Amino acid sequence: MRGRAAECEALRSLIATVQSGSHQVLVVRGEAGVGKTALLDYVSELTSDFRCVRVAGVESDMELAFAGLQQLCAPLMERFDELPQPQREALNVAFGRGVGPTPDRFLVGLAVLSLMAAAANDQPLLCIIDDAQWLDQVSVQTLAFVARRLLAEPVALVFAARDGNAPTLTGLPELTISGLSDSDARELLNSVIPGRIDERVRDRIVAETRGIPLALLEVPRNLSAAELAGGFGNLAASRSAGQLEESFVRRIRSLPADTQRLLLVAAAEPVGDAALFLRAAANLGIPVDALAPAEAAGVIEFGPRMRFQHPLVRSATYSNADLADRRVIHRALADATDPGLDPDRRAWHAANAAAGPNEAVAAELETSAARAQSRRHRRGGGILGARSNFDIGPGPPRLQGDRRRTSQGRCSSPRSCI
Ligand SMILES: Nc1ncnc2c1ncn2[C@@H]1O[C@H](COP(=O)(O)OP(=O)(O)OP(=O)(O)O)[C@@H](O)[C@H]1O
Ligand SMILES: [Mg+2]
Repeated sequence: MRGRAAECEALRSLIATVQSGSHQVLVVRGEAGVGKTALLDYVSELTSDFRCVRVAGVESDMELAFAGLQQLCAPLMERFDELPQPQREALNVAFGRGVGPTPDRFLVGLAVLSLMAAAANDQPLLCIIDDAQWLDQVSVQTLAFVARRLLAEPVALVFAARDGNAPTLTGLPELTISGLSDSDARELLNSVIPGRIDERVRDRIVAETRGIPLALLEVPRNLSAAELAGGFGNLAASRSAGQLEESFVRRIRSLPADTQRLLLVAAAEPVGDAALFLRAAANLGIPVDALAPAEAAGVIEFGPRMRFQHPLVRSATYSNADLADRRVIHRALADATDPGLDPDRRAWHAANAAAGPNEAVAAELETSAARAQSRRHRRGGGILGARSNFDIGPGPPRLQGDRRRTSQGRCSSPRSCI
C-alpha cells in the first residue's frame, strides 16, 4: 500500500486500544476507489490475535432485511445458546431461523450485542463492515445501535462507506480518506506502468485522478504505451466513478459471450457463493471454464467466495446487461437456490426473474411470507417502529445485567480469523 501513514497510524492505535480491553468504532469514509477496502484489509492484517468477522454490502442485496447482519453474525452464532430467551427468539425470527411475531428491533440489537460480547469474552473481536451504504437498512441501523452501546468489551467495529451515504452511521467516529498525495500517486502510477511515461502525462494523470488509487490503476488499461510515453492520450476515462464504470463496461464487453453471461451470474448473486454459482451455470448449460477469460483479465477471482476485482466491476456487469438476460440469470439462480435453506433469497431471485405478474412467483413469495413479513423493514414503522427509540442517540438504558449474564461462557471455537 502506498502512503496512508496517518491513516495506518490511526488504525494501529484503534487496534491497540481494543487490545487493552476497550471497544472502538470507526467509519472509514471516502469516494469510490479511494482505498477504504484497502485500509480495512490493513486492519485485518494487524489483528492476527483477534477473532475477525466481516461482511460487505452488495448493491443488489439492499432489500433483503437483516441479510447483512446475518452474514456478519453467522460465525458468532455458536454463542447463540448463551443469549436470554427473548433475545434468542428475536434473533431467530430476524435471521429467518424461525417463524414468530414481529421481532422487536431493540431486542435484535441487544442480541447482537450479546453475541459480540460473548465472543469477545475470550478473544478480542474485530467486525469489519465494508460497503455499508449497500447493506440493507435494518442491518445498518442495528449495527449503529450496537456501535453506540458497546462498553468495555474488546470489540472493534470498523465500517467503510462511500461519501454522503449511510446516514445512519452519522455521528460515529469517522476517518475521512482522500486521494493519495502527489508523490504517492506518482509512485503508484510508476509501479503499474511497465514502460516509460512522459512526465507531463504522469503529472496530468495524477492531477486528473486526484490521487484516487482505483483511477490511477485503471490508466494503463486505457492508454497505450505510445500514448503514455509520447505525451498524448485521452485521460477522460479515468476520472470519476461513473467514468471508471464505463471503462469496466468496455473491458467486460470485450470478453466472449458465455464469459459475460457467467459474470452476470456472479454479479446477480450477492453472497458470492461459488457452489450456488456452479449450480446456476449448470442450469444455464454454460461450462464453468467459460469464466477463465474473465479471471485472466483480472475481472473476477474464483474461489469458495467469488470476488470481483472491485464493486464497480460488479455494478458495471449488472447494469450493462439487458433486462431479458438478467431475468434468465435470476431464474437460473432461483432454481439453484435451496428452497429449504434460503427461501427468501430464492423468492427474491424468482421475483427478479419474472417479467410480470406470475402465479408461481406469487405462491413462492407467499410461502415465506410469514417470516419475510415479520423481518421486512417497512417505512414509517411496521416491525421497525416497534421501538421508536431504536435508531440514534444514547437510547434507552442498556440492559447490562441481561447482557453480562450472556458473556460468561467460554469460547469453544478455534481462535482464528474467519
Ligand atoms: N494506498 C494504496 N496504495 C496502492 N493501491 C491502493 C491503495 N489504496 C487502494 N489501492 C488499490 O486501489 C483499488 C481501489 O481501492 P479500494 O477497493 O480499497 O477502494 P474503495 O474506497 O474501497 O472503493 P469503493 O468505494 O468502490 O469500495 C484497489 O485495487 C486497491 O488495492
Ligand atoms: Mg471498497
